[in-house]
Amino acid sequence: MTASYEIHHHSYDVVVVGAGGSGLRATLGMAEQGLKTACVTKVFPTRSHTVAAQGGIAASLGNMGPDSWQWHMYDTVKGSDWLGDTDAMEYLAREAPKAVYELEHYGVPFSRTEEGKIYQRPFGGHTTEFGEGPPVQRTCAAADRTGHAILHTLYGQSLKNNANFYIEYFATDLIMSEDGQCQGVLAWKLDDGTLHAFNAKMVVLATGGYGRAYFSATSAHTCTGDGGGMVARQGLPLQDMEFVQFHPTGIYGAGCLITEGARGEGGYLTNSEGERFMERYAPTYKDLASRDVVSRCMTMEIREGRGVGKEKDHIFLHLNHLPPETLAERLPGISESARIFAGVDVTREPIPVLPTVHYNMGGIPTNYWGEVLNPTKDNPDAVVPGLMAVGEAGCASVHGANRLGSNSLIDLVVFGRAAAIRAGKVVDPETANPALNQASLDAALARFDGLRHAKGTVATAELRLEMQKTMQADAAVFRTDKTLAEGCAKMAAVAAKMDDLSVTDRSLVWNSDLMETLELTNLMPNALATIVSAEARKESRGAHAHEDYPDRDDKTWRKHSLAVVDGKKVELDYRPVHLDPLTPVSEGGIDLKKIAPKARVY
Ligand code: FUM
Repeated sequence: MTASYEIHHHSYDVVVVGAGGSGLRATLGMAEQGLKTACVTKVFPTRSHTVAAQGGIAASLGNMGPDSWQWHMYDTVKGSDWLGDTDAMEYLAREAPKAVYELEHYGVPFSRTEEGKIYQRPFGGHTTEFGEGPPVQRTCAAADRTGHAILHTLYGQSLKNNANFYIEYFATDLIMSEDGQCQGVLAWKLDDGTLHAFNAKMVVLATGGYGRAYFSATSAHTCTGDGGGMVARQGLPLQDMEFVQFHPTGIYGAGCLITEGARGEGGYLTNSEGERFMERYAPTYKDLASRDVVSRCMTMEIREGRGVGKEKDHIFLHLNHLPPETLAERLPGISESARIFAGVDVTREPIPVLPTVHYNMGGIPTNYWGEVLNPTKDNPDAVVPGLMAVGEAGCASVHGANRLGSNSLIDLVVFGRAAAIRAGKVVDPETANPALNQASLDAALARFDGLRHAKGTVATAELRLEMQKTMQADAAVFRTDKTLAEGCAKMAAVAAKMDDLSVTDRSLVWNSDLMETLELTNLMPNALATIVSAEARKESRGAHAHEDYPDRDDKTWRKHSLAVVDGKKVELDYRPVHLDPLTPVSEGGIDLKKIAPKARVY
């Protein structure tokens, strides 16, 4: 053994890493079934990034007009630009109403209609009649603080069901058996510096996205792709990483989110000529077209000289025509954010906004039960025993090349819940956990110790900034062969400097220098996989807008990218998209003809 540390050992049926919406929903579902469950989280549960989710959670409740899960599924398929897995997309849309009613019964304080039903608002890309009808009000909301409401409720319910929380514990690495089964995680307790080995029959990674691989993101600083990093270090692949969502309305400069619910409630975008330009690009759904479409249109307006402001480099979002009572009741949070971060009174002036990195469609490949996949030539759906991934960390793949707004919160609860249902079937609480593989634990300790004593010349913050600027410039809304090739070369050079990192604080208690270094070791493989997968994909699809290949090419590219990252090297492979739905037409399932690929117009 390289490093000698006293290790505190814990044994559980299930260990969930992360306490955002998917982590807490999984934790609650496991604990409700009597599985001995631990949730290990680097931040206090209600500070997880889900707390920042504003506009709402999609489910075809039909409270505001006709709706159906089949319409929701169609919109999700089209939103994904035909890259999502059909079984997963059906599961999401079909289970969504059930999952939302469960939240209601757990106590989520949803906004209400006059009749006392859950209030639902329009969101981009959500329509009726398989895309032929008007926009639908499908997004269930708790004002514009829906994530906050969900997180607090799920945390309370998890405690009530005796889940065990390990708060401000940073999970550093997976512990794997020699034959590739996940056996647990090593975690560092941030407030006293102790190290903890968690042994479990099932580990669920619910660690969120890696927005902070970019310079400007709506994501919290804690969104560092920790699960993806842990998986990559085991030689397992990351899937569809080239698809990074830019939210149309990040506040210019500050980057914080102004919910799409603002446009759902009637807000609209204008350029320097005062024109509602979305009417030109998306005549039917206008400002409520899908996010990737709106972000591209805004970028084109700016590139063509019609941006607003002194430098003509952003766009205006108007809410000032809406009744002040609507703003106060439905959008209080963003009214406050606009005042604090843009100095704007939304009842009188437009908000300056810019497309901002918001969500990672790619992640750790899973099936729709959340089981992690390690595809082989013979079996593209081979499962890694003992390991699950849910939420933004996972890639089910339900969002394909582009996620619809409000399909993230529903993804968190539907797949957090699915992971618990599956664990209830495959985890036997009566059997003892096999002993941890000492070699794997030693390797995790050695890595931790090596970084703690890193004596190179490059500061973590400096290298992180270099990575963020490169990703922002070269893996942006629009991409070309040239920017991507340059980006790959620059990122390889950035990643090479990981061997020359300098950590100056050697202590173990609240050592933010070491913590940020560990996070950078997670961000880096995510960033590398993103740019290399993007460089290889010679088509445009969803959020991957390639100017040298402006069309979608289903014949060659309707397939998932798989990236295995080893240091600065990335190896790519592909796996087929699942094309079969779960429910036959005779039992109410969607007719495959309805979701056949076609041009994606809004
Ligand atoms: O605009 C929003 O409220 C964000 C929602 C989402 O990303 O799903």
